[in-house]
Amino acid sequence: MNINIKEKIAHLRNEIDEHNYRYYALDEPSIPDVEYDALFQELINLEKNYPALITQDSPTQRVGVKPQSGFKAVQHRIPMLSLDNAFSEKDLIAFSKRLQDRLKSNTEILFTAEPKMDGLAVSLLYREGQLVQGLTRGDGISGEDITSNLKTIKAIPLKLRGNYPSELEVRGEVYMPLKGFNILNEKARQAGEKTFVNPRNAAAGSLRQLDPKLTATRPLSIYCYGVADYTQISQVKSHYSVLQRLSEWGFPINKLISACLGVEACFTYYQTIMAMRAELPYEIDGVVYKVDDLALQQQLGFVSRAPRFAIAHKFPAQEKITTVESVEFQVGRTGALTPVARLSPIFVGGVTVSNATLHNMDEVLRKDIHVGDTVIIRRAGDVIPEVVSVITAKRPASAQKIIVPQQCPVCQSDVIKPAGEAVLRCMGGLYCDAQRKEALKHFASRKAMNIDGLGARLIEQMVNLNLLHTPADIYRLSLESIAGIERMGIKSAQNLIEAIDHSRQTTFARFIYALGIREVGEVTAKNLAKEFMDINQLMSASLEQLLTINDIGPVVAENIQRFFQQVHNQEVIQALLAEGIHWPKAKQHEQSSAKLAGKVFVLTGSLSQMTREQAKEALEARGAKVSSSISQKTDYLVAGENAGSKLTKAKALNVTILSEAVFIQLLKY
Ligand code: IVH
Repeated sequence: MNINIKEKIAHLRNEIDEHNYRYYALDEPSIPDVEYDALFQELINLEKNYPALITQDSPTQRVGVKPQSGFKAVQHRIPMLSLDNAFSEKDLIAFSKRLQDRLKSNTEILFTAEPKMDGLAVSLLYREGQLVQGLTRGDGISGEDITSNLKTIKAIPLKLRGNYPSELEVRGEVYMPLKGFNILNEKARQAGEKTFVNPRNAAAGSLRQLDPKLTATRPLSIYCYGVADYTQISQVKSHYSVLQRLSEWGFPINKLISACLGVEACFTYYQTIMAMRAELPYEIDGVVYKVDDLALQQQLGFVSRAPRFAIAHKFPAQEKITTVESVEFQVGRTGALTPVARLSPIFVGGVTVSNATLHNMDEVLRKDIHVGDTVIIRRAGDVIPEVVSVITAKRPASAQKIIVPQQCPVCQSDVIKPAGEAVLRCMGGLYCDAQRKEALKHFASRKAMNIDGLGARLIEQMVNLNLLHTPADIYRLSLESIAGIERMGIKSAQNLIEAIDHSRQTTFARFIYALGIREVGEVTAKNLAKEFMDINQLMSASLEQLLTINDIGPVVAENIQRFFQQVHNQEVIQALLAEGIHWPKAKQHEQSSAKLAGKVFVLTGSLSQMTREQAKEALEARGAKVSSSISQKTDYLVAGENAGSKLTKAKALNVTILSEAVFIQLLKY
């Protein structure tokens, strides 16, 4: 075996472990992610070539084993206790008083104060610095062996650093950071799957997966907050120094942990952390105070299942019960309609909440939310309040189903639910007030009408000043009104007027693109411009006609048709034309005419995608002729369903026979 390879692998592992430690334990990454990924990939490649050199503690071995059939119950060597709760300053004072009485002392006690992570307690056993077992808390006496799942959590060291004890059992809380939780739920929502109620449930669900590969995809992390038995650590006298040692060995310790002398300092800590709660990247449900001196801890001992020397000071709940008074639909800047529940106001997570997002109609149906329902709502961090679940047992007889609006509540245009999408959309793109800033920005943008100088910020200002409602208003702006806008001088106003004027001369494709029809990008706009002689033809195009165009499927075809069906959009388009927007007239089907011009077609049988009349129009638009009977001169017979004698005759005369599908393809090119 090549000794250099062995060394190289060892070196790479050390380097990766070091970066892991910096990233997870110290929260001070020292190389960019891409460089880390490159190192990791190098190690994977080497191990692939030299599988004999793979070790259990290699950073590549986090997802090693195959799915399990279940989890083994394992007795805790030292029980995992729970904590007593305090809910007020009074409870806290009583706690401290109890301690002083027991210790027969009036001096202030030194506490370690820690955020109380809202996750799942786990116990991690290390032998000779290697992670050998990871258990859930279970009932405190025995837990489940979830070692393979815990190994997938990168913040948990597989191997300890420095001068560690030969045996060490560490306790900590596995949690899911809010950002990862929100992404996970958003993905589930988009896939039409059930979402997790809160990050704690998401973390629990993730750790309960039988396939560690699945756990590995979940954004989990850990903060360690103690050891099972501090006699395993030599020469420590305080809880705080236990935590410091844990940090040196590679465990992530919460940076907000702090020493507090006396209850008053504890209470200040509580208030400080509560004020930070909304900004923290993870959920906490309170703070924990622990007597710092380990000798005093031992002296105080335990009552039943909780230590006397520690207490959890809980924050007000982030989840409360209230009722849904009504449901309204809000229109976003891209036209998406979001159902929002109006609630009986309720104080939750430190603020009064009277609205909660219901995300979309699929979610409403899945949670079975009715107006009048009693619901559990939740506000966590800076996350928008949401309805977690309905208490169906409390549903009044008068409860009402939520009705999907057919018209946009802002502009009254049609609302549609595109196939395969969860969202409802307003079709009044050019006209809808909710969408107007975005519509205007798009309209003026470089690839659309290309109005130099009319950027996002200026549009925002103009909309706010009520100078712009629809794109047609751009062409009605006066020099004075532009010059009057903050930070605009007469010179820049003149330049803008010129640019606007200049944009009146455009191309049909740009104009179509500028309309901002959903899913009609530049390429589709160009295809449409090639296909249709003018805007009126495009505006009255049938779905079948649209479907014959390259790249246009049923969803886009419907978007286009719905867009032009909106009277408001029609009005804006007419107004734009009246303002002098124009483009060179199209030459008839430049591309396809070469192929089809002069060809003689006969149509027979019934077509499924279009009427015969439409097929005839499409052919004639391309310069082909359509005849009613087969002869020597016929080039093509388009044969639909149940074609009869014409088909027989065409075969006899060796006329090329096209199926409907092939015919449609031919029209596209
Ligand atoms: S100390 C003797 N410290 O809270 C009990 N627990 O309500 C040792 N928790 O089961 C627990 N953050 O899951 C401790 N900084 C922290 C904590 C913490 C969260 C959880 C833990 C425990 C539960 C008790």
